[in-house]
Amino acid sequence: MQPSFHIGPHPIPHPVVLAPMAGITDLPFRTLCRKLGAGYTVSEMVAGNPKLINTRKSSLRLRHDGDESLRAVQIVGWDPQSMAEAARINADQGAGVIDINMGCPAKKVCSKAAGSALLKDEALVERILNAVVKAVDVPVTLKIRTGWDANQRNGVTIARIAEQAGIQALAVHGRTRACAFKGLAEYDTIAQIKAAIYIPVMANGDISSPEKAKEVLEHTAVDGIMVGRSALGNPWVFRAITHYLKTGTQLPPPALHEVKDVVLGHLQSLYDFYGDPLGPRIARKHMGWYVEKHKGGSTFRKAFNQLETATQQLASAQEFFEQLIEGEVMAA
Ligand SMILES: Cc1cc2nc3c(=O)[nH]c(=O)nc-3n(C[C@H](O)[C@H](O)[C@H](O)COP(=O)(O)O)c2cc1C
Repeated sequence: MQPSFHIGPHPIPHPVVLAPMAGITDLPFRTLCRKLGAGYTVSEMVAGNPKLINTRKSSLRLRHDGDESLRAVQIVGWDPQSMAEAARINADQGAGVIDINMGCPAKKVCSKAAGSALLKDEALVERILNAVVKAVDVPVTLKIRTGWDANQRNGVTIARIAEQAGIQALAVHGRTRACAFKGLAEYDTIAQIKAAIYIPVMANGDISSPEKAKEVLEHTAVDGIMVGRSALGNPWVFRAITHYLKTGTQLPPPALHEVKDVVLGHLQSLYDFYGDPLGPRIARKHMGWYVEKHKGGSTFRKAFNQLETATQQLASAQEFFEQLIEGEVMAA
C-alpha cells in the first residue's frame, strides 16, 4: 500500500514526509532526509511579516542554495495582508510551495495569537487563507492541529474552509492546541478530516515506526505520513517506513559504517552552511540525538559539547564511530 499524491502540479514521490521543525529542519537536514527517502520537506517557519524577513534568522531559514528540489517555505502570522505579502516575497524568491503554520502551539507573533491559536477564530483563518492563496501563483498548503481544544475540535470545519479557499494540501497534527505535546496523538479526527475533503491530507503526530505509519494510513486513509521528532538522529526513518509500506517487510537498521558516513556528512554540511561559530554549535544538538542510543553515547556527547571547532568535532565523531565499528567486529 503506497499512496502517492500531488501538491498542486508537483508529484510527491514517497508518501513519508518531514515535518517542519524550527531550529532543526534547515537546508542541511532537509537535504539529508530527502536523500534517505523523505518524499517532501518543509522549511522551518519564517515570520509572515515582511518587515522581519531580512533578519539574520529568517535569511538563514530562507537560504536554499543548491537545493534543486521542490522548495516549501512555511510562514506564520496573524495578519492576512502581511501574510499575503510575505507569501508573495517568498514566491518571488523561488518558493515552489507556501505552507501556512496553524499547528504550532506556543507561537505568538507581535504579541498576537498565531500558529494553532488561530484555530479558535474561523473567520480570521478564512481571511488569511483567502489572502495568501490570492497573492501567489504557487500552491499554498496548510498545517493545523485537530482543533482548539477537546471541546472545540473544529479540524473538520477548518479543513473545509481551507479547501474552499484553494489550499492544495493539508497536514494535520493529531492533537488539539490545548494538548501542546501532552498525551498521545489521536487519528480519528484526522480520518474525519480526510473523509470530509478532496485535497491531499498528511497525518502527523507520534508516528515513530513503520508499523505505526501503516496503522495510521489504514485508519485514516490519508495520502501521506508526516514525521517530526522520530527523524531526530534518525533520518533513516523515511527509508524504513517507505520500504515497509511498499513491501510489508522491515529493513535492517543502518550499518554502523553508514551511520558514520551520514553523520560526518551531516556535520560537514552544517559547518559549510552556518560557518563559525554557529555550525559547531548546531552540530552539538544533532550529535546528541545521533549518539543517544549508542553505547557510550552520553559520555561522548558531554566531551563533544566542549569542542569548539569543526575540525575537533569531526575528528572526535570519526573516532567514536570507528570505536563502535571496532567493538562490533570484535563481538562478532
Ligand atoms: C522542536 C520542534 C519545532 C517545531 N517547529 C515547527 C514549525 O516551525 N512549524 C510547524 O508547523 N510545526 C512545528 N513543530 C511541530 C511538528 O511539525 C510536528 O507537528 C510535531 O512535532 C508532531 O509530530 P511528531 O510527533 O512526528 O514530532 C515543531 C515541533 C518540534 C518538536
